[in-house]
Amino acid sequence: MTEFAAVDVIRAKRDGHVLSDAQIDWVVDAYTRGVVADEQMSALAMAILLRGMTPAEIARWTAAMIASGERLDLSAVTRPTADKHSTGGVGDKITLPLTPLVAACGAAVPQLSGRGLGHTGGTLDKLESIPGWRASISNDEFKRQLEDVGAVICAAGEGLAPADRKLYALRDVTGTVEAIPLIASSIMSKKIAEGTGALVLDVKVGSGAFMKSLDTARELARTMVRLGQDSGVTTIALLTDMNTPLGLAVGNAIEVTESVEVLAGGGPPDVVELTLALAREMLAAAGIDADPAKVLESGAAMDTWRAMIRAQGGDPAAPLPVARETEVLRAPADGVVSSVDAYGIGIAAWRLGAGRARKEDPVSFGAGVLLKVKPGDEVRAGDVLLELRADDPARIPAAREEAAAAIVVGTERPALTNLVLDRIA
Ligand code: URA
Repeated sequence: MTEFAAVDVIRAKRDGHVLSDAQIDWVVDAYTRGVVADEQMSALAMAILLRGMTPAEIARWTAAMIASGERLDLSAVTRPTADKHSTGGVGDKITLPLTPLVAACGAAVPQLSGRGLGHTGGTLDKLESIPGWRASISNDEFKRQLEDVGAVICAAGEGLAPADRKLYALRDVTGTVEAIPLIASSIMSKKIAEGTGALVLDVKVGSGAFMKSLDTARELARTMVRLGQDSGVTTIALLTDMNTPLGLAVGNAIEVTESVEVLAGGGPPDVVELTLALAREMLAAAGIDADPAKVLESGAAMDTWRAMIRAQGGDPAAPLPVARETEVLRAPADGVVSSVDAYGIGIAAWRLGAGRARKEDPVSFGAGVLLKVKPGDEVRAGDVLLELRADDPARIPAAREEAAAAIVVGTERPALTNLVLDRIA
């Protein structure tokens, strides 16, 4: 591999030049090996954020991140593989009902998931509230479960795109998470290395998402769809609303409970709608002709959920942790709920202990916000708007303040927006 001086690569991007394939291959590899220092990669990430990258640079950067680690080979799995990735939101528990549902329809769903950071929750934190459930499994266990059960949700192994693991942690503390080339290559390097045949991206738009505007979300979606298609992964993206939390539960154990309600045929209408919309896209991308609504109704998805939880040591019938303290927030006056801001509710849940401030912090499984209303609901003065749940009562006042600012009770009925805003293929 040709060697470069890191400072020359940084200067080139700083001055708006296009990096060569050799420069990209070298800098990603050298950073993974510790030859390029964190402060140098920080400067380069900031230059990329400010200057951008061409589609060819993004494709090469993604390939270099994949090449930094192992690639899973799922060719021995007999069913077609289909995965979903969400860019992260508040109350976004869709992976939990979706994975067993799509598996019950005949696909194999390899769902490598992450933990929450900041105001957005992480799928692994939610599932770890189930007694006994293990997030870490070996590559062999992963493939066996994919074949036997059809559904796996687990932590990505250390060997998958290690360059991303290092770079993501650095971006998180240097204000460089929001760069579209870096987000797209981070997500897609892991998904391509995981070996899925089809991928559906749920790109969130709104206050509770990384992407606050439809235009930037579209650009991110187009970039990722192109990276997937160019690597031979059938990839489509849905742009979905994240101005309002999904469902009523925002936390860990309470989101598992809500997901199980969906699998039992109930649950909040928005969670059911998005689960079915994503399931249809995953099945179509995998070439499977099945109606997920019928499969959900039949109870087959619940059977797969139980098998999936048991296969990783969890007890699907065990009671889930409940927070020690519950306080309610009541409507100050008669009116209509005009908005429930996803970001504010996400921050409130995080303050209650559902999320973490630093990677190594523990989460409280029972903590979170349980909404009792959604935009458009009529309320009377004194009605309960939401519950604040925490193990540590000292966490409640700051969360209450945040939650109170996030719910607006007014006189006008709000215009209700669609959940699915666009589709990019
Ligand atoms: N999720 C990722 O995996 N990477 C990003 O850069 C942003 C969200």
